Amino acid sequence: MKEPLIQCRDLGRTYQKGSVQIMPLRDVELEIGDGEFISLMGPSGSGKTTLLNILAGIDRPTTGELRVDGVDVTKLSGRRLADWRAANIGYIFQLYNLIPVLSAYENIETPLLLKNLTRKQRHEAVSTAMARTGITDRADHYPRQLSGGQEQRVAIARAIVSSPRILVADEPTGDLDSRSARDVLALIRRLNIDLGMTIIMVTHDEEIASLADRTVHLLDGQITDSPEKTGAVA
Ligand SMILES: Nc1ncnc2c1ncn2[C@@H]1O[C@H](COP(=O)(O)OP(=O)(O)OP(=O)(O)O)[C@@H](O)[C@H]1O
Ligand SMILES: [Mg+2]
Repeated sequence: MKEPLIQCRDLGRTYQKGSVQIMPLRDVELEIGDGEFISLMGPSGSGKTTLLNILAGIDRPTTGELRVDGVDVTKLSGRRLADWRAANIGYIFQLYNLIPVLSAYENIETPLLLKNLTRKQRHEAVSTAMARTGITDRADHYPRQLSGGQEQRVAIARAIVSSPRILVADEPTGDLDSRSARDVLALIRRLNIDLGMTIIMVTHDEEIASLADRTVHLLDGQITDSPEKTGAVA
């Protein structure tokens, strides 16, 4: 049996707010195969974003272990964790999070500025990402000059410009009309199928969730699916 790309063991996250302890995530056991497309569902406050941020190396768990491709991500120091994230993770947000004073091209280029690349290498990577997301003709536009669907495609181009293995998306179509949402979902699906990217996508919509290979449900910080199902990795 092939080892899964992502392995969560007993993951938990606690926040201390004064004398009150909040536990948005507990006992999370989850395995995700290389190239799998997972949707993550659950009511508001159930811990979806908390889990996504831990998987993306943006937040650290309080307990448990997260292994990605054999690396125990929870043990990486700050600097090495940042490098690991830059090499492995693309993040897509509901509200795009584009930088308003940068053009589409410059927004997409930003993750590459952390890397030791020539301007020409950056240009090639940005051009490829723009072509893949269908926004080449909007390269010089600023975010305010783009429609919501176009903004999200720029944000997706920025997320994939470094060719990460893992793409996490927090309600990527939550702010879009149904037609733009369909386009963005089709694009995300293609990144999974054509490039083999492993995708974890939060959604509130059953129909959107059904596009994924598998749905994981969270309730009060815990996964409610049976372990046989959630652990099913070929
Ligand atoms: N930095 C923090 N400090 C304290 N509590 C937090 C923090 N981040 C999240 N929480 C709490 O953890 C719980 C889970 O939050 P989370 O954002 O993961 O929920 P969610 O499932 O993404 O919800 P939604 O669907 O509304 O986005 C919430 O009760 C939230 O208030
Ligand atoms: Mg959330």
